[in-house]
Amino acid sequence: MSTRHFRVWRGDDEGGQLTDYQVEVNEGEVVLDIIHRLQATQAPDLAVRWNCKAGKCGSCSAEINGKPRLLCMTRMSTFTPDETVTVTPLRNFPITRDLVTDVSYNYEKARAMPAFDPPKDLEPGEYRMQQVDVERSQEFRKCIECFLCQNVCHVTRDHEENKAAFSGPRLFIRAAELDMHPLDAREDRKEFAQAEQGIGYCNITKCCTEVCPEHIKITDNAIIPMKERVVDRKYDPLVWLGRKIFRR
Ligand code: SF4
Ligand code: F3S
Ligand code: FES
Repeated sequence: MSTRHFRVWRGDDEGGQLTDYQVEVNEGEVVLDIIHRLQATQAPDLAVRWNCKAGKCGSCSAEINGKPRLLCMTRMSTFTPDETVTVTPLRNFPITRDLVTDVSYNYEKARAMPAFDPPKDLEPGEYRMQQVDVERSQEFRKCIECFLCQNVCHVTRDHEENKAAFSGPRLFIRAAELDMHPLDAREDRKEFAQAEQGIGYCNITKCCTEVCPEHIKITDNAIIPMKERVVDRKYDPLVWLGRKIFRR
C-alpha cells in the first residue's frame, strides 16, 4: 500500500477545476479502483460512468495524464510512484458532470446511417455466410463503443464546427463492415461515407487506431479501403464507362 497524488477534474459544462487528492493505492489496482476509493472516502459526489470493470462495456472512457484511456484497464503500475495521476473527462464531448460526458453525438451519427439492408425476400436459413466473409467483418464487431477514437480525432477535437459534417472513425468502421457484408443490398456505402459521413475530412493521422482498446486497425482496414474505393468508383474510367452503359 502507498499514498499517491491524484488530480481529478470536478465541474460541469459551465466550468470547473482540477482538485487534488492524496489517496491510498494497493498492488494490482487500476485507475477506476482509485476513483471508487475517492468516492468512498473523500468525494462521495464525484461522478464517473462505468459498468463492467472488464474493458468490455466502453463506459469508463476518460483522459489520464492527457491520454484517452479506459479507467478500468489502466493499471496503477503504469505510473511511477511519485507521478501525479491526472484524470479528466473526454475533451471532445460536452461535460455532464465531473468525469461524465454526453456522448450522444455518436448515437446521432449512428442513427443517420442507413441500416443493414438484406434482400426482402430472403427467408431465415436461406443463406449461409461463408467463413471468409465472417472473418472480414469480425474485427469491426469487436468495437465496444468506448468512443476513444471519436474523442481523439483532430477533425472534431480541434474543430467543433466539423461535427455536423463528420461522423468519425467509429462510424467509418460500421460503414466498412456493412460495405463488406455479402447480404447488404445498398451499393452506395462508399458514396454515403464520402457525401454524408465526411470521410474525406480524414487525413489518415491514425490517432484513432492508436487509442483503440480493442486494437481494431481502424485506419488501415476500414478508412483507407473505404476512401480508396470511393476514389476508384468516382474516377476510374472503366467504372465511369460501365455506369454510362448500364444506365442507358
Ligand atoms: Fe472504442 Fe475502438 Fe470502437 Fe473506437 S473503434 S469506439 S476506440 S472500441
Ligand atoms: Fe481522424 Fe482517424 Fe482519420 S484520427 S483523421 S479518423 S485516421
Ligand atoms: Fe466497462 Fe471500463 S467499466 S470498459
